[in-house]
Amino acid sequence: MKRIAFPDGFLWGAATSAYQIEGGANEGGRGQSIWDHFGRTPGKISDGSTGDVACDHYRRWKNDIGLMKELGLSAYRFSVAWPRVIPDGRGAVNQSGLDFYSRLVDALLEAGIEPCPTLFHWDLPQNLQEAGGWANRATAEAFVDYALAVGRCLGDRVESWMTHNEPWCAAFLGYQEGTHAPGTQDWQAALAASHHLLLSHGWAVPVLRACSPKAEVGIVLNLVPVVPASDSAADAAAARHQDGHCNRWFLDPLYGRGYPVDMVADYSDAGYLPRGFDVVKKDDLLAIGAPTDFLGVNYYTRQVARCEKTAPSDNRPPSVFPDQKDRTDIDWEVFPDGLVDTLTRVHRDYKPQKLYVTENGAAYGTGPDENGRIADDRRIEFLRRHFLAAHRCIGAGVPLAGYFVWSLLDNFEWSHGYSQRFGLVWVDYETQERTFKDSARWYQQVIRDNGFAPHSQ
Ligand code: FCB
Repeated sequence: MKRIAFPDGFLWGAATSAYQIEGGANEGGRGQSIWDHFGRTPGKISDGSTGDVACDHYRRWKNDIGLMKELGLSAYRFSVAWPRVIPDGRGAVNQSGLDFYSRLVDALLEAGIEPCPTLFHWDLPQNLQEAGGWANRATAEAFVDYALAVGRCLGDRVESWMTHNEPWCAAFLGYQEGTHAPGTQDWQAALAASHHLLLSHGWAVPVLRACSPKAEVGIVLNLVPVVPASDSAADAAAARHQDGHCNRWFLDPLYGRGYPVDMVADYSDAGYLPRGFDVVKKDDLLAIGAPTDFLGVNYYTRQVARCEKTAPSDNRPPSVFPDQKDRTDIDWEVFPDGLVDTLTRVHRDYKPQKLYVTENGAAYGTGPDENGRIADDRRIEFLRRHFLAAHRCIGAGVPLAGYFVWSLLDNFEWSHGYSQRFGLVWVDYETQERTFKDSARWYQQVIRDNGFAPHSQ
């Protein structure tokens, strides 16, 4: 069989986020975030843990860059913690917080690894939440000041900026389902939050460009292919709604089309739109549609949608569930073809100049055997099948320029605490010892060869 070869210059990366790995919760003048607060609320995190220590990356970052170098990564996607940089969310900038990221960026560059910071990966300063969080337009204004502070500090060295990570999760898991911080259950707040997240992205784009004229700027969305559970018209409508809710609600305004009309109608019929959606002010949509240089896609699984309505007036959302038996430990269906569906669809319908897979990976708990080896074959197989899918997309003309595996390290998996391990590198949380899993060795070889054999040996 022919080897699978990727284009020259294809970026092979790994991703992490601040709250999930840094720890150092009370170090260096860091303020509190909504995740500190949420984690202390009983019952919110399945194993009762917090990110107070996490992977202790705040102290072990040099060692962690050593791991990246050994892996051969060409790029590293991390996030900047807003509460480290502006502890109260707005106002005074904490130089020691900025210094941490400045040192990190310098050391990455020295190791030959491109630093790709994300400004917001969910750890909103708690102070801003007290004033309504993302449901309040003032948070979008505060985000621009924060973007400016980080842009001024790192803009001379960073060449790839990501504004937000998965605004769908921040808005809907945080403000509507309540399974993520801040834990609110309020549709109107969630829809207002989604708008303010997008608006803050749009406002930050020119700010980052001014600080970093040579850099590319983009946003990261979690996109999910949705298929109907049956051939019925009701399930087709459920899939249409769910696709609108998860994908088009973000993609359409970002690509200059405003909010999708069918979704505005659905949310409005359900009484979910805040004050008739008058949170959308004049020129907001223009700002949100600011041209970007790339779109980051986080892809994990697909959804199967089934209509749950018993009458036309019934507002119940569709139920979504995984289909196949092949699931990772977090119960997400393994569905590599969905990556092809997602990337080709985005390319066809929205035409981003460039795409990155900014996250893809799998939760498998495989730990050290009696010799200390971590034989996580299922993760290798998962990645191999998804890399193949990415390669098919490139063959079909999708301008895919890089792939970031989630995650470099096992880490704090939000409401699942430390119970779900996504890392290429095993973390012993007692000792903070790091060990390469077999998947890390396999990925190292893929990076070295810029490709791999299509079938497992
Ligand atoms: C994504 C998040 C990331 C991680 C993975 C498993 O939704 O962006 O932080 O938790 O899921």
